[in-house]
Amino acid sequence: MFRVLLFFSIFPFISLIDIKNFIPFGLEHNDKIFEKEITNITDPISISVRYSFFNTYYDTIRISSNGLIVFGNNSCLLSFKTSDQHPFDDLVCIAPYWIDTNLTYDTVSNIFYREILLKTEPNTLYDITKILRNGFPKLAAQRMLWAFVITWYELPDNKNDINRNTYQVILTTNGFYSFSLFTYHQLQWSQGLSGNHAQIGFNAGDQINYYRLKRSLSPEIINIVNESNIGIPGQFIFHTTGNISDVQCETSTGLQISPFRGSIYGGYEIRLHGICFNQSHYEIHIDDHLVDDCRILNSLYIVCTMPMLMDSGKIKIELFNQETKELIDSTDFLAHVPEDHGELILSNYINLTQQIADPNNDELILHFQSNSITQKYLFRIIIYDYATQLSSDNQTLYNRTRQRIDLGLGYLNLSAINNLTIRYDTIFSVTTDPTDRVHALQISFEIEQTKGWLRSALFVGAKIFTAATTLNAAYCPAWLLMQSDPLKYIEQVPVCPCQVPIEPWLDEYMGFRIDEGCDARKPIEETCAYHKSARGCYRKRSDTSWAGAQCCYDEQGKFIEHGKDGAGTLDVISPDANSWYGKSLNFFGHFFSDFLSYWSCCRSLLISETLCKAYYDYRPAGRCENMEIESIEKHGDPYFVTLNGSSYTFQGQGEYTLLSLPEFNGQEVQIRLASNDENVNKTVGIVAFVIGFLKDKKRVQFELFPTHQHLEIRIDTRLIDLPHEEFGVSVLIYEDEYVKIKRKVNGAFKISFPGSHFRFRATIRPNYDFFDLETLLEREKFNKLSTPSYGLLGDLHGLMYPNGTRILINESNENTLFEYGQSWGVSRNTSLFYYLNDDINHQFSFFEQNLEETNKMTLVQSNCNNDLLQEQEQEHCTQETSHIDSNELNEENSHDLYRSDQHHWESLTVTIAADVIPQKKSNSAIHYTYSYSNLFILFLYFFL
Ligand SMILES: *[C@@H]1O[C@H](CO)[C@@H](O)[C@H](O)[C@H]1NC(C)=O
Ligand SMILES: *[C@@H]1O[C@H](CO)[C@@H](O)[C@H](O)[C@H]1NC(C)=O
Ligand SMILES: *[C@@H]1O[C@H](CO)[C@@H](O)[C@H](O)[C@H]1NC(C)=O
Ligand SMILES: *[C@@H]1O[C@H](CO)[C@@H](O)[C@H](O)[C@H]1NC(C)=O
Ligand SMILES: *[C@@H]1O[C@H](CO)[C@@H](O)[C@H](O)[C@H]1NC(C)=O
Repeated sequence: MFRVLLFFSIFPFISLIDIKNFIPFGLEHNDKIFEKEITNITDPISISVRYSFFNTYYDTIRISSNGLIVFGNNSCLLSFKTSDQHPFDDLVCIAPYWIDTNLTYDTVSNIFYREILLKTEPNTLYDITKILRNGFPKLAAQRMLWAFVITWYELPDNKNDINRNTYQVILTTNGFYSFSLFTYHQLQWSQGLSGNHAQIGFNAGDQINYYRLKRSLSPEIINIVNESNIGIPGQFIFHTTGNISDVQCETSTGLQISPFRGSIYGGYEIRLHGICFNQSHYEIHIDDHLVDDCRILNSLYIVCTMPMLMDSGKIKIELFNQETKELIDSTDFLAHVPEDHGELILSNYINLTQQIADPNNDELILHFQSNSITQKYLFRIIIYDYATQLSSDNQTLYNRTRQRIDLGLGYLNLSAINNLTIRYDTIFSVTTDPTDRVHALQISFEIEQTKGWLRSALFVGAKIFTAATTLNAAYCPAWLLMQSDPLKYIEQVPVCPCQVPIEPWLDEYMGFRIDEGCDARKPIEETCAYHKSARGCYRKRSDTSWAGAQCCYDEQGKFIEHGKDGAGTLDVISPDANSWYGKSLNFFGHFFSDFLSYWSCCRSLLISETLCKAYYDYRPAGRCENMEIESIEKHGDPYFVTLNGSSYTFQGQGEYTLLSLPEFNGQEVQIRLASNDENVNKTVGIVAFVIGFLKDKKRVQFELFPTHQHLEIRIDTRLIDLPHEEFGVSVLIYEDEYVKIKRKVNGAFKISFPGSHFRFRATIRPNYDFFDLETLLEREKFNKLSTPSYGLLGDLHGLMYPNGTRILINESNENTLFEYGQSWGVSRNTSLFYYLNDDINHQFSFFEQNLEETNKMTLVQSNCNNDLLQEQEQEHCTQETSHIDSNELNEENSHDLYRSDQHHWESLTVTIAADVIPQKKSNSAIHYTYSYSNLFILFLYFFL
């Protein structure tokens, strides 16, 4: 061992290999080296953030060879002895392994350190965030923006230098919260030159506040290499923002799952948290099935691999006591079928997906595209086989099975392969399968995962149905017997527009999306095989049932009403129907109801005119109506186009009600207006907005962090992962029974709400400073609404103050309009926004009872943020009163007030140096959080 170490000292930096659970370190990772021959503590090192430690911010640190990190410019005399115990005066420090040692002549040891910036090491920060979530699941919605890593490598015992200690410390912060992460790889000695054993802890330097690990100052301290507060031997995480807090398992939310949404194919890691897992055995049921692939990581987490799920939609996750079988807690998971973009990979995609294969007669032949995607990536082919039978007695699906088949071919260069034949009997037993058994084969093409990417976006798939020819032929007569009057479905489905735009044909029009089987954007010979006289079709599902409309159009974009060769057909179960309403229909609902029936009645060997005609009678084309083009209202330029079509300028800064429909499920849109940082073209725009339903307490929030070129989307308080997009396709970001968010190819986000007449389109400006927010509304329907609307957009008659007083835009001057805008400011109580630093207060109320009793600990009574908040609030309330008294609310004054307020806060909160800003990358795979939302909370008080 010693020889090897000597060898290292000759080539000290080439051979440092990965150490388990360490962030990569060493000269090849651009670490700096501590000059141990010259000194035993570094000069103050300036860091790019202000790191919060015991409620005080520090922007310099010093690293000592004695295993200390010292904040600020303290004299540091104490750092050379370890006889004293915490708490100390003077010394503000983190002590990962404080021990007195002399490294001057040691040739083996080294102390490495470096600052980790978003710009240079986004993946490292991503990894650190992941480790952190192990200890603070409550902060799963936070991402770290900065870190500093220090590696004490092979430090010798001065009495016997065969004994060596190696450990790593990471300081990290997201701007609000700061954490220390200690990883002990090897501890072989604990007694320093003075005879004292090492200490581990934190000291605030005020002689009151400190935190010390209980094994400190005893020989057992070296045992921590096998201990942990997060279940990973040798690893400890502490929250150091205010008072030091240990990890915490109990939260107010009950059982939670992260991620809370994922593909039904499973195979990815999920974590249960939110309650303390103190028993050694639990039973976990997912969708009523026992999962055997779980382990208790620590008292905070149970980690499972998501099994392949039978259905999409809301999936029940239950935690049982293994012995008593009692239900401890449960939560929901949202499973979705990844979007099908098989056409990117398969040249015979339409042939495969628009037909039914007979596994007895056909082979599954995949023809691959040779394009930039198949040339650039290697793909692994996985088949997810869902199978079932439909009982003709009770009309239910039975004998449902699922299986995942890896073809075992590894990662393939599909562009070089050209085609691949897969025999059905390699997937399921064709010969013993009952003849009425149907398979839905999800052929998925998976790219090798790149670190930090979200896997969901890397699936492209194709869905292929198989059914024996005999079933296909026999199905129609039985199906016809089950049918009822289609009128009731026609009434449920959306009415088609009578005319659609054709120059160009759109992928989506008034909420109807283009039908992949008859897509007018493609050459006619490649599409519309089943609607021969149509040029393009659109589909939209009902908001209230499973049914959906299919609307087909001729060359001129005119609705085709009749004719089995052109017109669309009603879907009693839309392919887009998800299971918010029920279960068991995901793959097979549309198939049995509308697809197999068509094939059996109109395409099978036994076809007769009569059967096919009967099919069309039960699946008519539906109705169309002339719709007034949707109005698009664009806001935040800072022009606001009102609901009655006027526009005005409003340059307020703060949070405002844009639109409120109290009687319409209480839907409300609030925006946050702020100015950009540019000195020359300084302008006000929308930096965040939230759309919520007051009744259901559901909300969707979009928030921009211009400094980091970063967007965050939240559903309620939960952060939605934005999948990496590489293929130039639109991506469904999120969907549940309330809201659907889609990212279009051009980067715009479409936000729609089933049952609402409003849809929204949000576009991020090229500078990444503001949103353009557009409201799309079905004018006709809106005009019929009896309920009034409120807010910056007014109502159908113009603008109205909250107290009911009306003003006329063209007769109002700038000041009046400004006053009008301000009157719609939201207060802390009416705000729908989620504020990042809300968590921190939550956090503080919890940690007291979660500390180990043996860890002596004192608390600072109030945290500095709160104190300041109150102070500011009062100051501003006074200001506000004086404005009203003198009756001269004046734009200039308010803005000066705002600005000084902002500056004040900027100096208090963390400022991240400009060079931390990542290069603008619209496709950035990893997104980081930095919030200045506290600016806005404060700011609200003086505009109320
Ligand atoms: C650390 O360095 C200072 C200044 O060179 C010296 O006075 C002190 O004795 C050193 N302490 C140890 C423990 O090496
Ligand atoms: C470290 O030890 C060496 C002797 O091994 C001694 O000469 C030197 O002064 C010590 N350094 C400090 C800073 O005490
Ligand atoms: C798709 O099917 C049609 C008709 O069955 C055939 O003419 C065409 O060549 C097929 N295309 C591919 C790519 O297999
Ligand atoms: C429906 O019928 C099938 C067999 O035809 C049977 O296996 C299944 O249990 C039945 N389901 C219900 C709900 O009765
Ligand atoms: C259920 O499916 C299996 C194949 O997965 C088949 O062997 C069995 O016969 C089916 N059961 C019935 C009642 O059809």
